[in-house]
Amino acid sequence: RIAYVNGRYLPHSAAGVHIEDRGYQFADGVYEVCEIRHGIIVDLTRHLDRLDRSLAEIRIPSPMSRKALTGIIREVARRNRVRNGLFYLQVTRGEARRDHVFPAPDTAPSLVITAKSTDPKVIAAKNAKGLRAVTVPDNRWDRVDIKTVGLLPNVLARQAAKEAGAQEAIYVDARGMVTEGAATNVWIVDRDGNLVTRPAEHGILRGITRTTLMDVARTLSLPVVEREFSRDEMLAAREVFITAATSICLPVVEIDGQTIGNGHPGTFSEKIRSAFFDVAE
Ligand code: PDD
Repeated sequence: RIAYVNGRYLPHSAAGVHIEDRGYQFADGVYEVCEIRHGIIVDLTRHLDRLDRSLAEIRIPSPMSRKALTGIIREVARRNRVRNGLFYLQVTRGEARRDHVFPAPDTAPSLVITAKSTDPKVIAAKNAKGLRAVTVPDNRWDRVDIKTVGLLPNVLARQAAKEAGAQEAIYVDARGMVTEGAATNVWIVDRDGNLVTRPAEHGILRGITRTTLMDVARTLSLPVVEREFSRDEMLAAREVFITAATSICLPVVEIDGQTIGNGHPGTFSEKIRSAFFDVAE
Protein backbone atom coordinates (compact mmCIF):
# COMPACT_ATOMS: atom_id res chain seq x y z
CA ARG A 1 0.00 0.00 0.00
CA ILE A 2 1.03 3.58 -0.73
CA ALA A 3 0.26 6.67 1.35
CA TYR A 4 0.59 10.35 0.52
CA VAL A 5 2.40 12.28 3.26
CA ASN A 6 3.28 15.96 2.87
CA GLY A 7 4.22 15.95 -0.79
CA ARG A 8 5.48 12.37 -1.10
CA TYR A 9 4.04 8.98 -1.99
CA LEU A 10 5.50 6.48 0.46
CA PRO A 11 5.12 2.78 1.19
CA HIS A 12 2.44 2.49 3.87
CA SER A 13 4.88 0.81 6.28
CA ALA A 14 7.33 3.73 6.04
CA ALA A 15 4.76 6.57 6.04
CA GLY A 16 4.93 8.74 9.15
CA VAL A 17 4.65 12.25 10.48
CA HIS A 18 6.95 13.88 13.04
CA ILE A 19 6.44 13.32 16.79
CA GLU A 20 5.82 17.06 17.12
CA ASP A 21 3.02 17.07 14.60
CA ARG A 22 0.12 18.85 16.28
CA GLY A 23 -2.24 16.12 15.20
CA TYR A 24 -0.23 13.68 17.27
CA GLN A 25 0.20 15.96 20.28
CA PHE A 26 -3.10 17.83 20.44
CA ALA A 27 -5.48 16.10 17.99
CA ASP A 28 -5.23 19.52 16.33
CA GLY A 29 -6.60 18.52 12.96
CA VAL A 30 -9.57 17.45 10.89
CA TYR A 31 -10.33 14.59 8.54
CA GLU A 32 -12.66 13.14 5.93
CA VAL A 33 -13.56 9.56 4.98
CA CYS A 34 -15.09 9.10 1.57
CA GLU A 35 -16.27 6.10 -0.39
CA ILE A 36 -14.91 5.07 -3.78
CA ARG A 37 -17.32 2.99 -5.81
CA HIS A 38 -16.58 1.51 -9.22
CA GLY A 39 -13.61 3.88 -9.36
CA ILE A 40 -15.75 6.97 -8.71
CA ILE A 41 -15.35 9.07 -5.59
CA VAL A 42 -18.82 9.32 -4.06
CA ASP A 43 -20.03 12.82 -3.10
CA LEU A 44 -16.52 14.27 -3.37
CA THR A 45 -17.72 17.88 -3.63
CA ARG A 46 -19.75 17.64 -0.44
CA HIS A 47 -16.85 16.01 1.41
CA LEU A 48 -14.41 18.71 0.28
CA ASP A 49 -16.93 21.43 1.16
CA ARG A 50 -17.17 19.97 4.66
CA LEU A 51 -13.37 19.73 4.88
CA ASP A 52 -13.11 23.45 4.03
CA ARG A 53 -15.69 24.22 6.69
CA SER A 54 -13.91 22.11 9.35
CA LEU A 55 -10.58 23.77 8.50
CA ALA A 56 -12.11 27.23 8.68
CA GLU A 57 -13.80 26.51 12.02
CA ILE A 58 -10.49 25.57 13.66
CA ARG A 59 -8.53 28.15 11.61
CA ILE A 60 -6.15 25.86 9.73
CA PRO A 61 -5.33 27.23 6.27
CA SER A 62 -6.23 25.04 3.34
CA PRO A 63 -3.14 22.96 2.45
CA MET A 64 -3.66 23.38 -1.32
CA SER A 65 -6.23 24.09 -4.01
CA ARG A 66 -9.20 21.79 -4.42
CA LYS A 67 -7.98 20.79 -7.85
CA ALA A 68 -4.56 19.75 -6.54
CA LEU A 69 -6.15 17.91 -3.61
CA THR A 70 -8.51 16.02 -5.91
CA GLY A 71 -5.56 15.03 -8.11
CA ILE A 72 -3.72 13.55 -5.14
CA ILE A 73 -6.80 11.69 -3.91
CA ARG A 74 -7.20 10.10 -7.34
CA GLU A 75 -3.52 9.27 -7.51
CA VAL A 76 -3.57 7.58 -4.08
CA ALA A 77 -6.62 5.55 -5.14
CA ARG A 78 -4.90 4.62 -8.41
CA ARG A 79 -1.59 3.62 -6.77
CA ASN A 80 -3.50 1.41 -4.33
CA ARG A 81 -5.68 -0.02 -7.11
CA VAL A 82 -8.83 0.90 -5.20
CA ARG A 83 -11.96 0.48 -7.33
CA ASN A 84 -14.24 -0.10 -4.36
CA GLY A 85 -13.13 1.19 -1.01
CA LEU A 86 -12.44 4.29 1.01
CA PHE A 87 -9.99 7.11 1.15
CA TYR A 88 -8.93 8.82 4.34
CA LEU A 89 -7.67 12.40 4.37
CA GLN A 90 -6.27 14.22 7.38
CA VAL A 91 -5.05 17.79 7.75
CA THR A 92 -3.36 18.97 10.93
CA ARG A 93 -1.94 22.33 11.98
CA GLY A 94 1.52 20.96 11.18
CA GLU A 95 4.78 20.40 12.95
CA ALA A 96 5.95 22.75 15.68
CA ARG A 97 7.52 22.67 19.15
CA ARG A 98 4.83 21.75 21.65
CA ASP A 99 2.89 24.84 22.69
CA HIS A 100 -0.88 25.09 22.99
CA VAL A 101 -1.15 28.34 21.05
CA PHE A 102 -1.01 28.24 17.26
CA PRO A 103 2.46 27.96 15.74
CA ALA A 104 3.96 30.67 13.49
CA PRO A 105 1.64 31.49 10.56
CA ASP A 106 4.14 30.10 8.03
CA THR A 107 3.90 26.59 9.57
CA ALA A 108 2.69 24.27 6.80
CA PRO A 109 -0.34 22.12 7.61
CA SER A 110 0.34 18.37 7.44
CA LEU A 111 -1.62 16.45 4.84
CA VAL A 112 -1.97 12.67 4.81
CA ILE A 113 -4.09 10.68 2.36
CA THR A 114 -4.53 6.91 2.31
CA ALA A 115 -6.87 4.59 0.43
CA LYS A 116 -7.92 1.00 0.94
CA SER A 117 -10.21 -1.51 -0.73
CA THR A 118 -13.26 -2.80 1.09
CA ASP A 119 -15.00 -6.12 0.67
CA PRO A 120 -18.59 -5.67 -0.62
CA LYS A 121 -19.38 -9.13 0.77
CA VAL A 122 -18.68 -8.00 4.33
CA ILE A 123 -21.00 -5.01 3.94
CA ALA A 124 -23.68 -7.19 2.28
CA ALA A 125 -23.52 -9.62 5.21
CA LYS A 126 -24.01 -6.77 7.70
CA ASN A 127 -26.98 -5.53 5.70
CA ALA A 128 -28.57 -8.95 5.57
CA LYS A 129 -28.25 -9.51 9.28
CA GLY A 130 -28.56 -6.04 10.77
CA LEU A 131 -26.49 -4.61 13.60
CA ARG A 132 -26.75 -4.52 17.35
CA ALA A 133 -26.20 -1.20 19.12
CA VAL A 134 -25.99 0.10 22.67
CA THR A 135 -26.82 3.58 23.93
CA VAL A 136 -24.25 5.63 25.83
CA PRO A 137 -24.39 9.11 27.40
CA ASP A 138 -23.15 11.77 25.00
CA ASN A 139 -20.09 13.06 26.83
CA ARG A 140 -18.50 14.94 23.92
CA TRP A 141 -17.71 18.64 23.56
CA ASP A 142 -20.27 20.91 21.90
CA ARG A 143 -18.43 21.31 18.55
CA VAL A 144 -19.09 17.84 17.18
CA ASP A 145 -20.15 19.59 13.96
CA ILE A 146 -16.40 19.87 13.23
CA LYS A 147 -14.95 16.64 11.85
CA THR A 148 -11.93 16.70 14.15
CA VAL A 149 -9.47 13.85 14.67
CA GLY A 150 -10.06 14.29 18.44
CA LEU A 151 -12.17 11.15 18.67
CA LEU A 152 -11.37 9.77 22.12
CA PRO A 153 -15.00 9.76 23.33
CA ASN A 154 -16.00 8.01 20.09
CA VAL A 155 -13.22 5.45 20.54
CA LEU A 156 -14.34 4.68 24.09
CA ALA A 157 -17.99 4.46 23.02
CA ARG A 158 -17.28 2.05 20.14
CA GLN A 159 -15.13 -0.08 22.42
CA ALA A 160 -17.94 -0.19 25.00
CA ALA A 161 -20.28 -1.29 22.22
CA LYS A 162 -17.88 -4.01 21.15
CA GLU A 163 -17.49 -5.29 24.69
CA ALA A 164 -21.29 -5.49 24.92
CA GLY A 165 -21.42 -7.60 21.76
CA ALA A 166 -22.67 -4.69 19.62
CA GLN A 167 -21.30 -2.88 16.57
CA GLU A 168 -22.29 0.74 17.23
CA ALA A 169 -22.74 3.02 20.21
CA ILE A 170 -25.62 5.51 19.98
CA TYR A 171 -25.21 8.72 21.93
CA VAL A 172 -28.09 10.01 24.05
CA ASP A 173 -27.94 13.56 25.43
CA ALA A 174 -28.82 14.69 28.97
CA ARG A 175 -32.48 15.15 27.94
CA GLY A 176 -32.79 11.56 26.77
CA MET A 177 -32.65 12.58 23.09
CA VAL A 178 -30.60 10.64 20.57
CA THR A 179 -27.77 12.61 19.00
CA GLU A 180 -25.81 10.27 16.69
CA GLY A 181 -23.65 7.16 16.62
CA ALA A 182 -19.96 6.99 17.54
CA ALA A 183 -19.17 7.21 13.79
CA THR A 184 -22.61 7.36 12.14
CA ASN A 185 -25.83 9.37 11.99
CA VAL A 186 -28.96 7.71 13.36
CA TRP A 187 -32.36 7.48 11.67
CA ILE A 188 -35.69 6.00 12.69
CA VAL A 189 -38.89 5.24 10.85
CA ASP A 190 -41.56 6.62 13.17
CA ARG A 191 -45.15 5.45 13.77
CA ASP A 192 -46.39 7.67 10.90
CA GLY A 193 -43.91 6.17 8.46
CA ASN A 194 -41.63 9.22 8.38
CA LEU A 195 -37.88 8.94 8.07
CA VAL A 196 -36.71 10.91 11.09
CA THR A 197 -33.25 12.21 11.91
CA ARG A 198 -31.97 14.85 14.27
CA PRO A 199 -31.52 18.37 12.87
CA ALA A 200 -27.85 19.06 12.14
CA GLU A 201 -27.85 22.52 13.71
CA HIS A 202 -26.72 21.20 17.06
CA GLY A 203 -25.26 18.09 18.65
CA ILE A 204 -24.25 16.06 15.59
CA LEU A 205 -21.92 15.97 12.63
CA ARG A 206 -23.73 16.88 9.43
CA GLY A 207 -23.05 13.58 7.69
CA ILE A 208 -22.60 13.66 3.94
CA THR A 209 -24.42 10.34 3.66
CA ARG A 210 -27.22 11.88 5.75
CA THR A 211 -27.53 14.79 3.29
CA THR A 212 -27.45 12.54 0.23
CA LEU A 213 -29.96 10.19 1.82
CA MET A 214 -32.41 13.09 1.93
CA ASP A 215 -32.02 13.45 -1.84
CA VAL A 216 -32.56 9.69 -2.21
CA ALA A 217 -35.70 9.80 -0.05
CA ARG A 218 -37.06 12.62 -2.22
CA THR A 219 -36.62 10.57 -5.41
CA LEU A 220 -38.41 7.66 -3.72
CA SER A 221 -41.15 9.98 -2.35
CA LEU A 222 -40.37 8.91 1.22
CA PRO A 223 -41.16 11.63 3.76
CA VAL A 224 -38.17 12.94 5.75
CA VAL A 225 -38.63 14.86 8.98
CA GLU A 226 -35.73 16.54 10.76
CA ARG A 227 -36.63 16.51 14.43
CA GLU A 228 -35.21 15.26 17.67
CA PHE A 229 -36.31 11.86 18.94
CA SER A 230 -35.81 10.20 22.31
CA ARG A 231 -34.19 6.88 23.18
CA ASP A 232 -37.66 5.57 24.06
CA GLU A 233 -39.08 6.58 20.68
CA MET A 234 -36.12 4.93 18.98
CA LEU A 235 -36.64 1.66 20.84
CA ALA A 236 -40.32 1.67 19.79
CA ALA A 237 -39.60 2.71 16.18
CA ARG A 238 -40.60 0.60 13.20
CA GLU A 239 -37.04 0.71 11.92
CA VAL A 240 -33.70 2.11 12.98
CA PHE A 241 -30.72 2.54 10.69
CA ILE A 242 -27.39 4.32 10.72
CA THR A 243 -25.58 6.14 7.92
CA ALA A 244 -21.92 6.92 7.16
CA ALA A 245 -19.64 7.00 4.15
CA THR A 246 -18.06 3.74 5.33
CA SER A 247 -21.23 1.69 5.00
CA ILE A 248 -23.90 3.99 3.49
CA CYS A 249 -26.92 2.70 5.37
CA LEU A 250 -27.00 -0.19 7.86
CA PRO A 251 -30.10 -1.52 9.62
CA VAL A 252 -30.06 -1.77 13.42
CA VAL A 253 -32.13 -4.66 14.73
CA GLU A 254 -31.36 -4.61 18.44
CA ILE A 255 -30.55 -1.76 20.87
CA ASP A 256 -29.64 -2.27 24.53
CA GLY A 257 -30.85 -5.86 24.20
CA GLN A 258 -34.30 -4.79 22.94
CA THR A 259 -35.55 -5.90 19.56
CA ILE A 260 -36.33 -3.15 17.04
CA GLY A 261 -39.43 -3.72 14.90
CA ASN A 262 -39.67 -7.38 14.00
CA GLY A 263 -35.96 -7.92 14.62
CA HIS A 264 -35.10 -8.03 10.93
CA PRO A 265 -33.61 -5.35 8.65
CA GLY A 266 -36.40 -3.02 7.55
CA THR A 267 -37.71 -2.22 4.11
CA PHE A 268 -36.96 1.51 4.23
CA SER A 269 -33.23 1.07 4.72
CA GLU A 270 -33.25 -1.58 2.01
CA LYS A 271 -35.02 0.72 -0.47
CA ILE A 272 -32.71 3.61 0.29
CA ARG A 273 -29.58 1.52 -0.03
CA SER A 274 -30.52 0.18 -3.42
CA ALA A 275 -31.33 3.67 -4.76
CA PHE A 276 -28.37 5.42 -3.11
CA PHE A 277 -25.76 5.19 -5.83
CA ASP A 278 -28.18 6.35 -8.53
CA VAL A 279 -28.53 9.63 -6.66
CA ALA A 280 -25.07 10.15 -5.08
CA GLU A 281 -22.66 12.10 -7.26
N1 PDD B 1 -17.43 8.92 10.45
N2 PDD B 1 -21.24 11.17 12.86
C1 PDD B 1 -19.98 10.93 13.25
C2 PDD B 1 -19.58 11.19 14.66
C3 PDD B 1 -19.05 10.40 12.32
O1 PDD B 1 -17.79 10.17 12.70
C4 PDD B 1 -19.47 10.14 10.99
C5 PDD B 1 -18.55 9.59 9.95
C6 PDD B 1 -20.80 10.41 10.64
C7 PDD B 1 -21.34 10.19 9.24
O2 PDD B 1 -20.81 11.13 8.34
P1 PDD B 1 -20.63 10.79 6.79
O3 PDD B 1 -21.94 10.37 6.28
O4 PDD B 1 -20.17 12.07 6.20
O5 PDD B 1 -19.59 9.69 6.68
C8 PDD B 1 -21.66 10.94 11.60
C9 PDD B 1 -16.39 8.46 9.56
C10 PDD B 1 -16.89 7.60 8.45
C11 PDD B 1 -15.29 7.82 10.39
O6 PDD B 1 -14.95 8.41 11.40
O7 PDD B 1 -14.79 6.76 10.02
